[in-house]
Amino acid sequence: MIKFILNNQTIKTEKEEGSSLLDFIRTEMHLTATKIGCREGDCGACTVLEGRLVDGVLTYKSIVSCLTPLANAHAKHIVTVEGLNLDDLSPVQNAMSESSATQCGFCTPGFVVALTGHLLSSHNSAAVNSLSGNICRCTGYKSIEKAAGKVDELKQNLLFGSEIEQMIKEGWLPDYFSGIKNRLVEIEAIMTDMDGILISGGTDIMVQQADGLRHKKFVRAGDFITDNVTEENGNIKIGAGITINDFFRNRLIMEHLPQLSEFLPLIASEQIRNMGTLAGNIVNASPIGDISIMLLAFNSSLVLENKDSRQRQLALKDFFVSYKKTRLKPDEIIKHILISADMDMNFNFEKVSKRTYLDIASVNTSLGITVDNKLIKEVYFSAGGVAAVPKFMLQSSGFLKGKELSIPTLESVLPVIQSEISPISDIRGGSIYKRLLLRQLFLQHFLKLFPDEFEQKDLLNIMITNSLHDEKY
Ligand SMILES: Cc1cc2nc3c(=O)[nH]c(=O)nc-3n(C[C@H](O)[C@H](O)[C@H](O)COP(=O)(O)OP(=O)(O)OC[C@H]3O[C@@H](n4cnc5c(N)ncnc54)[C@H](O)[C@@H]3O)c2cc1C
Ligand code: FES
Ligand code: FES
Repeated sequence: MIKFILNNQTIKTEKEEGSSLLDFIRTEMHLTATKIGCREGDCGACTVLEGRLVDGVLTYKSIVSCLTPLANAHAKHIVTVEGLNLDDLSPVQNAMSESSATQCGFCTPGFVVALTGHLLSSHNSAAVNSLSGNICRCTGYKSIEKAAGKVDELKQNLLFGSEIEQMIKEGWLPDYFSGIKNRLVEIEAIMTDMDGILISGGTDIMVQQADGLRHKKFVRAGDFITDNVTEENGNIKIGAGITINDFFRNRLIMEHLPQLSEFLPLIASEQIRNMGTLAGNIVNASPIGDISIMLLAFNSSLVLENKDSRQRQLALKDFFVSYKKTRLKPDEIIKHILISADMDMNFNFEKVSKRTYLDIASVNTSLGITVDNKLIKEVYFSAGGVAAVPKFMLQSSGFLKGKELSIPTLESVLPVIQSEISPISDIRGGSIYKRLLLRQLFLQHFLKLFPDEFEQKDLLNIMITNSLHDEKY
């Protein structure tokens, strides 16, 4: 049985675990303010809040209900816009109204819920960033940005960050929120049935298989893998169930891999990053998976565990076999991801997609590199969209290791890069275009990481003198 709290109502349901939370909210509960737009996580019309207890603290984040299997609502507090309503407009609703940020109103519940999620969150980014997964076809966005600015002002006035009690006192949240923590404690958090399809955030599997999953049983990976990040035996040990947002915002990760944070906005949207996990991104094995491409350049390893709790360790670069095929055995899960804690590397990530935000890559690439006295000591170069798997560029990385950091070195590795990849033409670009992109992005890594060593004009010269000939590929 699935048990959760929907707004102020405790729900106990035997509905299919694989049916979507969106359908449950609208069809079973008749809460129709949560809208159906794309059903693929792209538009944000179905945004709801998910509250859960993290180390005894009730925390909320925005998620898309269309990609949330009902099983993932278990032991959570799900909040729709109806559950945020007060006698008067809430301050977020007021900010939208005063800024003329709503016209036809179809998208408005999603925006209100996403902005309230921001108000409830403990991170300090601007409120407008919490709307990266919400689309409006009417307003032209300026008025919505204005409303987000008002939410920033509200958040600054909160005395203790985002304390729920304080928000209730201010009249920003309904009173029933004060009882939610104790009500969640009453629900056994773990679903004990261990037979079915493994699911983490659902953002991949619910899109790929949609209706096919409705009648299937699910095993929630989050019930037996952690999302903790610790430092152990010289490694940063990352619970593979960590969401993309929690990974990038984790204190240890920010301390050890400070270069990562600038790339967060390039991945999916706030809601998808609140749901999608590192494990899901890796097992999905998409040739353009951003997280896999980044982790390859940190020389990461995976800890895999089977049903008998037996563990083995595998380098991420050896995990991917062929298109969507990995070395994960049928009875195994990814338990942890390991990155050396002593790694003192320069890191860069580049991604070219049709849109800058909320789009998947045509080509993406990462470079992790250590240079000492102008000699390349360590180098981990990865590329996506240029092979059947997220590719660790073994030959190119090997070629660069030990070489001088210089224009001739960069020039001489370009043919190695081209010999190592096999892009195909598809909706995201032709094969020659992708070859060109990877060459450009590879050079861009060096321009960005070593601005004192390389000038744009030198790298442009390399590009011109190393043109790619169609007939060769
Ligand atoms: C709108 C949208 C935008 C997106 N944008 C991006 C983007 O910009 N960049 C990007 O890289 N991706 C993007 N994605 C893809 C997706 O969000 C990510 O790949 C995400 O990390 C998947 O994680 P998940 O937890 O949701 O996976 P799930 O859907 O839960 O699972 C995916 C697969 O992994 C398996 N699995 C899950 N956990 C484990 C485990 N611990 N051990 C073994 N197997 C496991 C599942 O059985 C399933 O086969 C986007 C998706 C959507 C819907
Ligand atoms: S319906 Fe578009 S994100 Fe859910
Ligand atoms: S107000 Fe009409 S879609 Fe946003």
